Amino acid sequence: MVDALDSGSSGEIPVRVQVPPPAFKKKNFYMHIRKVILEDKEKFVKTYFLAYKELSDYKYHTSKEVKNYFNWLYKRDKEGFWVAEENNLPLGFIASDANWRSIDGEEVLEIHELFVIPEMRKKGIGKKLLDTVLEYGKEKRKKIAELWVGKENFQAINFYKKRGFKEREVIGKWLRMTKFLDY
Ligand SMILES: CC(C)(COP(=O)(O)OP(=O)(O)OC[C@H]1O[C@@H](n2cnc3c(N)ncnc32)[C@H](O)[C@@H]1OP(=O)(O)O)[C@@H](O)C(=O)NCCC(=O)NCCS
Repeated sequence: MVDALDSGSSGEIPVRVQVPPPAFKKKNFYMHIRKVILEDKEKFVKTYFLAYKELSDYKYHTSKEVKNYFNWLYKRDKEGFWVAEENNLPLGFIASDANWRSIDGEEVLEIHELFVIPEMRKKGIGKKLLDTVLEYGKEKRKKIAELWVGKENFQAINFYKKRGFKEREVIGKWLRMTKFLDY
């Protein structure tokens, strides 16, 4: 494992956060999913930039923006915010929100964010994180899960389609997708 130095964008004191090196590739791994705590902010920022490297149209570009984004997600619904880890190293995050209303004014479980580091994709981590928040949505008695995905982020769109999400409208560069939650 390597130490990455977060220089930040606002002259803050650099913080050392452990992230997996790019060559990190394993077949067998032990993953643990737990709720996010405030102290995960630096891990979130590092993992976010690794996961969004290839998606420049749909991401925040500075550490400050991503920290503010983390604060916003945490404030919206900290109970719906999860991290997948192996040996305390983050593999992916998902942030959902049981206090959200759709553009039609309907109460939904909103999925604001989901990402997995590239080296650990296609191992079922994204699905496990998604299943975790869909269960959370059911605990909160939501009928619909909703998300907005980049309209040309085909990998993610296909991932959601295969898991029962339907394509709805496009607004700007974003596609809305929804799924009925089964009880
Ligand atoms: C979308 C994203 C979260 C998916 O994460 P992931 O961990 O790769 O997801 P999974 O491994 O559960 O599933 C991905 C594919 O791998 C396949 N897969 C899962 N386990 C596998 C295994 N052991 N061997 C081979 N394939 C496997 C799944 O069947 C799935 O394929 P499908 O979508 O064609 O059905 C990830 O690609 C990502 O972080 N993208 C960048 C950020 C992003 O776009 N986020 C969405 C914002 S709305």
